[in-house]
Amino acid sequence: MKRMLVQALLTGALGVHLAAGAAAPVIEVYKSASCGCCTEWVKHLARNGFTVKAQNVANPSDYREKFGLPQALGSCHTGMVAGYALEGHIPADDIKRLLAEKPKAKGLAVPSMPLGSPGMEGPRKDPFDVLLVHADDRYSVYRHYN
Ligand code: CU
Ligand code: CU
Repeated sequence: MKRMLVQALLTGALGVHLAAGAAAPVIEVYKSASCGCCTEWVKHLARNGFTVKAQNVANPSDYREKFGLPQALGSCHTGMVAGYALEGHIPADDIKRLLAEKPKAKGLAVPSMPLGSPGMEGPRKDPFDVLLVHADDRYSVYRHYN
């Protein structure tokens, strides 16, 4: 009898956990099939609790344009979460902050492919900025990494 109660409690707790997971927003990612660093970035997001729906496309830049991000801020992949565009190797923490703060903006961008950003790990770590891209395509530094 006692054991059944414990099991019921465990099942209940698991149910709550699954419900919370289901409510987390899904990140759509559009990437090129040949790009390994895109896959590494997707893994970084998944490791940090995001559900990711990744799709290989011929031209990720088409999605950058569709989502209204300036091509000048382009990287190797483009994503979308809860109405925000995501360009490049953005750390998961900054996406979580974006979703918590919900600023009026198009989204976030890490232009180019800075060495040492998530998915671009290697022997060198370059400083880089995560940019908040505003509705008028101007941008400000959302976070600086050394
Ligand atoms: Cu890349
Ligand atoms: Cu990529």
